Amino acid sequence: MSDLHPPIDLADAAALSNLIDQVHAAANSDELRSIEQAHLGKDSTIVRARKALGSLPADQRKDAGRALNEAREQLEAAVAARGTALAEAEREVQFEAERMDLTEFVDYSPVGHAHIVTQAWEELEDVFVGMGFRVAEGPEVETDWHNFDALNIPKGHPARDGFDTIYVNYGPRDQEGRSNTVLRTHTSPVQIRTMLDQEPPIYVIAPGRVFRRDTADATHMPVFHQIEGLVIDRHISLADLAGTIEAFTTAYFGPGFSSRLRPNHFPFTEPSAEFDIQRPDGSWLELGGCGMVHPNVLRAGGVDPEEWSGFAFGFGIDRLALMKFGVDDLRDLFTNDIRFLSQF
Ligand code: PHE
Repeated sequence: MSDLHPPIDLADAAALSNLIDQVHAAANSDELRSIEQAHLGKDSTIVRARKALGSLPADQRKDAGRALNEAREQLEAAVAARGTALAEAEREVQFEAERMDLTEFVDYSPVGHAHIVTQAWEELEDVFVGMGFRVAEGPEVETDWHNFDALNIPKGHPARDGFDTIYVNYGPRDQEGRSNTVLRTHTSPVQIRTMLDQEPPIYVIAPGRVFRRDTADATHMPVFHQIEGLVIDRHISLADLAGTIEAFTTAYFGPGFSSRLRPNHFPFTEPSAEFDIQRPDGSWLELGGCGMVHPNVLRAGGVDPEEWSGFAFGFGIDRLALMKFGVDDLRDLFTNDIRFLSQF
């Protein structure tokens, strides 16, 4: 028995009550456990008191035994109660120590914005939707039929070479070993898909990503963006095309800007033109290509050229973004340096 917990006479009510006070005052579980061991454990007050019962005269043994049991019960109850209270308090302390503050506030709240190409893309959509166009879509991985044949560029046509096409390793090959699957080189295949998909009248624009086997430099990227326009209706003429380009020019660029068409050639339009935008200072910007949809293209799209006619146009989106924000290297748009992009 340790000096800390000298044996007591359990039959002595004052000594017992004093011991119970000690139990209630135990400062922690360790202290409580040592009191418990000293008085209730193997070599303890209680064990010795029980042994001592044997040496009592028989007539006193029974009462002394009962008193001892009562004392033990009281002591045990006190130890159990204090044990529960201490365990709870100790758990509380541990919780407090291990608590994590998840409410920490870091004053860093960067608000991003759309990429300038996306901004230009969305503005173009807004302007054309305002003019009555719907937005159409097509896949970026395209069949060479949609990208070329249906657009009046049959296999072996020299115009195919001008496109620097990226072929995808998928589908059957031609005699020269090229697959029939390409990354679309322009948004014009969406003309075909839209005609096959819906009856005229058709008034759609189709912005999207296009791909060409080009080395990146200040004015070229192997991936860039175009927006296509397609109108198919009855009695559509070149005047409607010119008027639409002109209306778009003032709506998008603002008053003081105007447009002109210059004769050009595309296999999918006849006649074809290049269209330019004149800035208020008189200078010209070449924007894109356009023309009346070729009858072969209408037929490929399942549209009867005797009944319907239409026009199409297409131009690059990236250059508009460059111009608008005064950037002079196309590559800056796609390096995605946040310090560059966050300026706009
Ligand atoms: N698809 C042509 C190009 O990429 C542009 C164009 C579209 C021309 C529609 C005429 C009509 O250059």
